[in-house]
Amino acid sequence: MSALYGTYARSDLAFERGEGVRLYDQQGREYLDFHSGIAVNALGHADPHLVSTLKAAADKIWHTSNVFTIPEQERLGQRLVDLTFADRVFFTNSGAEAIECAIKTARHYFFAKGEPDRYEIIAFTGSFHGRTLGTIAAGGNPSYLEGFGPPMPGFKHTKPGDLEAVKALIGPQTCGILIEPVQGEGGVTAMSVEFMQGLRKLCDEHGLVLILDEVQCGFGRTGRFFAHEWADITPDIVAVAKAIGGGFPLGACLATEEVAASMVPGTHGSTYGGNPLACTVGNAVLDRITAPGFLDHVNQMGQRLGWHLQQLAQKYPDYVLEMRGKGLLAGIKIAPPVRDFVARLRDDHQLLAIGAGDNVLRLIPPLIITEADIEEAMSKLGAAFDAIEAETASTAAAS
Ligand SMILES: Cc1ncc(COP(=O)(O)O)c(C=O)c1O
Repeated sequence: MSALYGTYARSDLAFERGEGVRLYDQQGREYLDFHSGIAVNALGHADPHLVSTLKAAADKIWHTSNVFTIPEQERLGQRLVDLTFADRVFFTNSGAEAIECAIKTARHYFFAKGEPDRYEIIAFTGSFHGRTLGTIAAGGNPSYLEGFGPPMPGFKHTKPGDLEAVKALIGPQTCGILIEPVQGEGGVTAMSVEFMQGLRKLCDEHGLVLILDEVQCGFGRTGRFFAHEWADITPDIVAVAKAIGGGFPLGACLATEEVAASMVPGTHGSTYGGNPLACTVGNAVLDRITAPGFLDHVNQMGQRLGWHLQQLAQKYPDYVLEMRGKGLLAGIKIAPPVRDFVARLRDDHQLLAIGAGDNVLRLIPPLIITEADIEEAMSKLGAAFDAIEAETASTAAAS
């Protein structure tokens, strides 16, 4: 029996190395990676720029402390500020910590304005914000809350897409609205432009802060640097993680000067957050994502993936029920149970994908994929549906 906590339903498969969009197991068998360590490996595996940068940094300095100036952290923070709506950045090690910082920033903004009772955040059903006590309360998923005592107060939930329902929840204690522009774990649901713009308008009308969780959908995954750019809106706070480190644990909370101004010494902190090694890698990831043509490529591949999935849906209408997502955060709602289907793809067809809520198969390849990789994935998906069809036919014939 493993010595580890039994918190993950792990497969026995263990990988030894990776290269680009391919992973190789301990027997040398090749897998096509449409999973990306859950949207982390944006540049695939063993990207030469990331590897050489990390190796060089390892010879110099690994960790100091946030009580000293960390030049690579300053540089990454400034680059993110120059690129986005943000004026201030706090670095973390994970997505949940980035969301925690976002929640604390929003609440403290009102506290500092003399409105300490305004701490409530409106969030959405089907969302996922992490596994800390604060972020499971923000997500509101009963199965993640069960057994861990009373949920942290201060969150109200409603269905995404219904602006009137959001408006009805706004009260004197509301401080902000928290949403994933594309829900990942919940079922790969992209919010409409109208809904995102409506939320911005509601925040403006009621003096609330708009907090976006771009941990999964940000950093280029949808074909823009941030997914909210498709709606042409300016948020107040954005949480990012996953792709920002390309596989090195790193996250960040980005905010405007106005909301972040009260986060002074003593209000927040992290031992590791933004350490020299993490930020050196973060800068290398940013070099690649901001290189001319990179996001155009993601955009193009997102469109090609959408087109190929449509073809697949036409060929297998009994299996592919609905298309979901945006760019290279794509999903198909399928008829066969998604957990079994993910295992079948992995074990019989060497395609790595991942399930999401509502029986959706999530396809989140590295952003460097080519159309040939997409075609290969489609042929593996087709072969998996064919195999199910053949098994169903032979069971029917036998009975
Ligand atoms: C949208 C979103 N927010 C937050 C998180 C939590 O990130 P982490 O697991 O790095 O804490 C995740 C993780 O999957 C996520 O998808």
